[in-house]
Amino acid sequence: MKAGSATYHPFWPLALIAFILLVGTSVLPGCELLGEESTTVEEPTGPIRYAEHIQPLLDRKCVACHAGAEAPAGLDLTSWDNLIQGSNFSEALIPFQPEKSVMIRLMTSYDREPHPKGKSRLTDSEVERLRSWIADGARGPAGSVPFADSPDRLYIAHASAPAITIVESNAAVIIARLDLTDYGFTQRARAQHMAAEPDGSFWYASISSTRWNETEVVAKFNRDNELVAMIPVRAPGQLLVHPTRDELYVSAAPSIDEDRIFHRTPGDRTSVIRLRRSDLFFDSIDVTYREAYPLALRPQGDAVFSSSMEVDQMLIIEPSSKDVTVRDVKGTKHLMRHLSISDDGRWMWGSGYWSNTATLFDISDPLNPVQRQSLFMGFDPRQIAWGPDDDQVYIAVRGSQSVQVISTDLGYIDYEIRHPAMQEPVGMALSPNDSTLFVTAENALAAWRGKHQFPEDPAPGLILVIDRESRQVTKVLETSPGAAAIGQ
Ligand code: HEC
Repeated sequence: MKAGSATYHPFWPLALIAFILLVGTSVLPGCELLGEESTTVEEPTGPIRYAEHIQPLLDRKCVACHAGAEAPAGLDLTSWDNLIQGSNFSEALIPFQPEKSVMIRLMTSYDREPHPKGKSRLTDSEVERLRSWIADGARGPAGSVPFADSPDRLYIAHASAPAITIVESNAAVIIARLDLTDYGFTQRARAQHMAAEPDGSFWYASISSTRWNETEVVAKFNRDNELVAMIPVRAPGQLLVHPTRDELYVSAAPSIDEDRIFHRTPGDRTSVIRLRRSDLFFDSIDVTYREAYPLALRPQGDAVFSSSMEVDQMLIIEPSSKDVTVRDVKGTKHLMRHLSISDDGRWMWGSGYWSNTATLFDISDPLNPVQRQSLFMGFDPRQIAWGPDDDQVYIAVRGSQSVQVISTDLGYIDYEIRHPAMQEPVGMALSPNDSTLFVTAENALAAWRGKHQFPEDPAPGLILVIDRESRQVTKVLETSPGAAAIGQ
């Protein structure tokens, strides 16, 4: 992580401090005029510990307001467990990233009076203490980093920033905002898609560039988000982890994405890459056509589906034999961008980039998918998620600013979910316990200004947290620009 951006001039501040000390001791011997002094405790000299150094500070300066169910913004600061749950609107802090933590930013943003105001206002050294505690991982009383052991994470790609956002899906808080330039990538690097090991021990990212001649890779990260390995792959697209085989499938990114079309020649890779996850050993599966972008796996593990953003065909790869079967997709020109398969492995919906429809396939016989129906979505359907018991299918429809919900019993669109923050929705995922829908919104036109509106920030990318039962948006998380595909 990068250190703070403050530049340090070695000589003058020291001279100034020496001068103030001299003047202070000689002219104001009793220091009574520095009245705030009595409310501060001695600054810790060793490592900062939560119980000793942080909770007492919060107790003194915050819990008069931030306590209990009625706490302002829903932020309860009476314990570490409550603090890391964040507020009704966002996370309060991001471990290791004080400069991205709302709590610190509200105290230090240049355009506003620091929060809290008045007599609860923190001294510079108290802000500094909170800052270094967060920089060290915001560790709790037992020394652990927030949600360090939770396997329930969502990985969010960004269409317009070299960034990856990681969300803990039970608490629905952002736990990391990675900047790809910190890992040596350029400003033009873009994460396309992420996929995690079933046990959460490692995760993978396909990282491309908006400049055609820059290195593109599949990167492997550990739980602590350290880059542990990477391998060059041209135009890496979606990723798929096989649940039982040591395989990671990497599709080919399309060349049509808005911010890529001007920068690069059409992707001409006519293969799906298969990496051995343990050592990233490279294997190529020739699929005869370009831009095989979407990927989906039958839960039975016996068939990987893809399609093309260039020709209307369905592609089925058998993992055991590497055999490839190609089937035509019928009717109007669809060009599938995303595919998603029901938990029982019987049905697959695809979102058609060209036709703006969602199309249903019966894949009980995976090598012979039967096309069943197409539903018109308005504009630009993107990621798809299946609800519990395969009863519902949720589709983020970018152009219509909504999530369309298909009832699988009825075979038509049952209802839609809308919210003012649903600005260019793209990514879609369901929490592992099925209670929460996560929808990313690119907010490409900056129509949603965000709650905190720090003037130094570009328009935020958004993550809408939706209670699946009540269909209500419960939180809108703000992150780096252009929040896009969600990987799990
Ligand atoms: C005098 C009452 C008061 C005190 C003391 C106070 N706060 Fe707040 N705090 C508020 C109110 C009211 C809001 C909600 C403002 C809003 O929603 O715009 C808020 C909002 C916040 C938020 C933003 C939550 C979000 O996501 O919108 C954070 C973070 C926060 N406080 C942290 C602190 C910390 C840390 C302290 C102690 C150092 C503190 N507050 C002390 C009243 C207080």
